[in-house]
Amino acid sequence: MAKEIKTIGILTSGGDAPGMNAAIRAVVRTAINKGLKVKGIQKGYNGLINEEIIDMDKHSVSDIIQKGGTILYTARCMEFMTAEGQKRGAEVCKKHGIDGMVVIGGDGSFRGAQKLAEAGVNTIGLPGTIDLDIACTDYTIGFDTAVNTAMEAIDKIRDTSTSHERCSIIEVMGRNAGYIALWCGIANGAEDILLPERYDNDEQALINHIIEARKHGKKHHLIINAEGIGHSTGMARRIEAATGIETRATILGYMQRGGSPTCKDRMYASVMGAYAVDLLCEGKSNRLVAYKGGKFVDFDIDEALAMTKDIDEYEFNISALLSK
Ligand code: ADP
Ligand code: F6P
Repeated sequence: MAKEIKTIGILTSGGDAPGMNAAIRAVVRTAINKGLKVKGIQKGYNGLINEEIIDMDKHSVSDIIQKGGTILYTARCMEFMTAEGQKRGAEVCKKHGIDGMVVIGGDGSFRGAQKLAEAGVNTIGLPGTIDLDIACTDYTIGFDTAVNTAMEAIDKIRDTSTSHERCSIIEVMGRNAGYIALWCGIANGAEDILLPERYDNDEQALINHIIEARKHGKKHHLIINAEGIGHSTGMARRIEAATGIETRATILGYMQRGGSPTCKDRMYASVMGAYAVDLLCEGKSNRLVAYKGGKFVDFDIDEALAMTKDIDEYEFNISALLSK
């Protein structure tokens, strides 16, 4: 018989992402409406180990759906990578009567969730990362807001780039994944998009493309460079030296992680939060909520972590054609 859950713990872990608050709100309200108790664990697995745990009621999540960041704070926790840390985490859950847990974070956080599940705490993961780099899902909480924030910033850079007839390299986040770069590259009409999944380090080809585009009348040249490639400042210096075209680098940085979540991030995060509680109430554990093929679904965490995904070849190919 499925284990009956009485108290759900919830934590956010890894990099924060806009929409995490909407997910927290949905978990808390769904659980309370089903007659369960909810405990908020602050600062990710650190707060679990250090027992930074608060009781949450319906009002604890009032007025947060529109806010970026995470009201539970987030952290990276080295201690939870160890067997002792994981044992301590499971003991703290037991002490506080937490028999179900929702972990909102990225791949790393789900490896931690796996350990909690192995230790007997029914655990469900929600994909929360601006990077969109979780293989089993077409959507991650925060990506939509982050790409919109980056897109608006890049539009502004385009204005000044055109006025000065400059080349601009804009570096966007994404860790080792190029999804933010690809989406902004297409949405901002960039002349070049450099993705860690595709870039062959052929800087001369990039330089030739800039010279060629200038000959054909381009007033600016926008290059979206993914964080996974990096080195935008040095690249700008070398491009300017080789082409004679003034070149500037802008690293967008942490602004991409903040701000009020878009409608999509609020809506999808809310559905995912409710879905996670439903899974726990069905006695499920070690599952990851995902959005795949237009539907909210769930996967076994072990299987989800073994999956891989790549940049869509068609999207990548058209990105170059559309800016010609
Ligand atoms: P993200 O969840 O965004 O991928 P990290 O990779 O930094 O971010 O992971 C967040 C936290 O999850 C880590 O600081 C650690 O506490 C926990 N974690 C990561 N990998 C493992 C692992 N293999 N075992 C247990 N916990 C892990
Ligand atoms: O995973 C989200 C992210 O913002 C990545 O895009 C970036 O590489 C990383 O987190 C930065 O992490 P930190 O907050 O530790 O600097």
